[in-house]
Amino acid sequence: MGSLVLNDGMASSASAPVFPRQGGVLHAEQVPIPAIAAAVGTPTYVYCANAIRMRYEQLTQAFAGVPHRIHFAMKANSNLAVLRLLHDMGAGVDIVSGGELYRASEAGFPGRAVVFSGVGKTVREIEQALEARVLLINVESEAELVTIDAVAGRQGVVAPIAIRVNPEVTVGSPHAYIKTGEKGQKFGIPRDDVSRLVEMVRDLPHVALRGLGMHLGSQIGNAAPMRDALPRLLAAIAAARADGHAIAYMDVGGGLSVPYHHDDVRADLADYAATVMAAAREAEVTLLLEPGRFLVAESGALITEVLYRKHAAGKDFIVTDAGMNDLVRPALYQAYHQIDAVDAVTGTVVADVVGPICESGDFFAHDRTMPDVTAGALLAVQTAGAYGYTMSSNYNSRPRPAEVLVDGDRFAVITERERLEDLVRLERAHLQWRTA
Ligand code: LLP
Repeated sequence: MGSLVLNDGMASSASAPVFPRQGGVLHAEQVPIPAIAAAVGTPTYVYCANAIRMRYEQLTQAFAGVPHRIHFAMKANSNLAVLRLLHDMGAGVDIVSGGELYRASEAGFPGRAVVFSGVGKTVREIEQALEARVLLINVESEAELVTIDAVAGRQGVVAPIAIRVNPEVTVGSPHAYIKTGEKGQKFGIPRDDVSRLVEMVRDLPHVALRGLGMHLGSQIGNAAPMRDALPRLLAAIAAARADGHAIAYMDVGGGLSVPYHHDDVRADLADYAATVMAAAREAEVTLLLEPGRFLVAESGALITEVLYRKHAAGKDFIVTDAGMNDLVRPALYQAYHQIDAVDAVTGTVVADVVGPICESGDFFAHDRTMPDVTAGALLAVQTAGAYGYTMSSNYNSRPRPAEVLVDGDRFAVITERERLEDLVRLERAHLQWRTA
């Protein structure tokens, strides 16, 4: 696929598999996956702490040449234990809702470790962000700018803001739904409108423009969009400074891709970092990065049990106890996830791997050469640490899965499996009618 997947560089530990096979059995770090499944059941997300730490360190080292901060895009994985782990390594977070702000503060992040992105922040969310004293609110429209000024005015504070520029470059993401920095998208301020917004800020007493930012998209295929976009961001920074604003931050967003397929080539992190660092040096700013997927995707797998084998209309099906409600990426983006048998199996079969949900879109693989597993076998759907659990739902009234963190030879449940009672906890069958 030729993705801009990042080179492991000198970090030799990076090439050790996160889920090694020992004695024929797939492990998460040093813990045999069957032991986790026996203790916690399936489906279950399993994350490896050391894989997350390694990616964080790799990124920190790559950007060591400039003042920078890594704000984990917690939409990728917002579990408190995962957040805590990244917090303890020195990360900040990139949030997109009041719910994420709540989680971040529960995990111990102070406001100054938070940047707030998103195209539709509510007044309540802006209030919450200002009360928490977040580092920056990324502004995505003129109307939002005016709202932030008004909310800050009511609180008697000055809101630190950044303008998110839509640099309008061509982005090579593998799916249209995860592109953001192209012309005509809802994200950011079109680059031709940025100077008008910058001028507006001067007349608004309760906002201070401290940064400019962008986010080009996710799982971007190569470094070209960043090379195209950075000069536009630098121009916007220069123009804002010429207008009298003290710009301290340049936010280049997230989007660093990871390999999902064993054929995916890791591109060059050093090259990506050099490109971005050159711009940060030129602008004399603190660089902000918002990686999500890069930090957590490869650390995680969704462990599921094979319920049935089925042969129908000349096709083989492997029916699993996980479905699209647990991991929606294949259904939503036609995303590829490698699927391994947890216990080594001899023989292969070309099969569809499908979930139990009443939708044709409920699949994990189509016509895939798979280990010839039987009912009761465990499968590991790989690279599921990002946008897996956070995008899960209760569709078909299925309780959401458990989450487990592995650290070396230990594991801990970090989210309990939902119970049936949880499904109806907020619902009412006995109604208290009201009239307007
Ligand atoms: N910053 C902003 C403003 C974003 O919108 C995003 C992701 C990120 C950072 C982090 O991007 P990353 O480094 O993870 O690529 N659900 C999709 C991905 C949607 C990404 C949305 N924005 C998926 O499963 O592929």
